[in-house]
Amino acid sequence: MASLFTSRRAIIITNPTVSNLYGAVISGSLQKAGFSVHILEVPEGEKYKSLETAAELYDRLVSLGARRFEPIVALGGGVIGDLAGFVAATYMRGVPYIQIPTSLLAQVDSSVGGKVAVNHPQGKNLIGCFYQPRAVFIDLETLATLPERQLKAGLAEVIKYSFIRNDGFLSFLEKNLNLILELNRPILLEIVKRCCQIKAKVVEEDEKDLGTRAILNYGHTIGHAIEALGGYEKYLHGEAISIGMVGAAWIACELGFLKREEVERHEEILSRVGLPTKLSEFSESQVIDQMQWDKKWVSEKSRFVLLEKIGSPILYSDVPVSVIKKALRRLSLERRGE
Ligand SMILES: NC(=O)c1ccc[n+]([C@@H]2O[C@H](COP(=O)([O-])OP(=O)(O)OC[C@H]3O[C@@H](n4cnc5c(N)ncnc54)[C@H](O)[C@@H]3O)[C@@H](O)[C@H]2O)c1
Ligand SMILES: [Zn+2]
Repeated sequence: MASLFTSRRAIIITNPTVSNLYGAVISGSLQKAGFSVHILEVPEGEKYKSLETAAELYDRLVSLGARRFEPIVALGGGVIGDLAGFVAATYMRGVPYIQIPTSLLAQVDSSVGGKVAVNHPQGKNLIGCFYQPRAVFIDLETLATLPERQLKAGLAEVIKYSFIRNDGFLSFLEKNLNLILELNRPILLEIVKRCCQIKAKVVEEDEKDLGTRAILNYGHTIGHAIEALGGYEKYLHGEAISIGMVGAAWIACELGFLKREEVERHEEILSRVGLPTKLSEFSESQVIDQMQWDKKWVSEKSRFVLLEKIGSPILYSDVPVSVIKKALRRLSLERRGE
């Protein structure tokens, strides 16, 4: 950071959980590099990724006299990254910011790509913009303190990348899954690096999400519906998209793209991680009703990201509702090996 900025004051935005774990290490390191450091904590939780919290942060930045060239450091998971990035994008028409993602999901997904946002009571991420961080610093050591459920939810996004990229990444994950779950360092380094490369490449081609960036939403159409039906509490995002990816695979199977064994390959790796792969809590019609509310569905009809084969995603418009119903029925009923 000393080489990136001329200013010698940095403002860290974080939450109490992450601050207790890593606040002192990061501020100590910055102080050694000559920075004076302020830590601004916001309460823990998705519900604080809001305009109200952003407004409180603006007040605190104003009272600190924060200026245009003083960097903001987002230290935490995706909630903090999105919120601090949004504040950085808007305070004084934009101040530089750095991402230090500490959850696996944030390391492989939200910290890269420059989407920043806060939630609105009517929907997640409704208020936001595109604003790239000056740098993203990832320390895999932070994953040691991440709750296991959060780690597994992050792995759902990792597996998502492997389905949309045909470069042997899926086989690599299948082979090394136990080592990944044990947090084997060289293997983790390899997967976080590969995911960041895949995301960066997709985002470079379509930064503003007008076309091909949508492939990053594999499993997310059904996944978002499940998340919403669970009131954003029952399922973590990664858990919901785990079910959503299997659902999308069944749709692709119904349409004659994927073979049944390829759907089973989805279920196999996700359930080895311990992620859900069945629609067990909600009915098919609940999911379809909820998808019709989804903003993407409304504006783009029943558009799904589907795989023609593993590693080859396509955007498929107007999937017939009858096909979606059949696929959701399989998602509820089919058991592996039956
Ligand atoms: N901008 C994007 O492109 C993008 C992409 C995907 C998701 N998101 C957003 O990301 C958010 C979800 O992010 P998330 O899954 O990281 O959730 P999160 O930020 O809520 O973090 C999960 C939990 O882990 C804790 N935590 C984080 N790092 C830790 C560590 N090293 N040790 C111990 N505890 C730690 C957090 O305090 C929190 O309780 C959502 O708001 C979602 O909308 C954004
Ligand atoms: Zn996601």
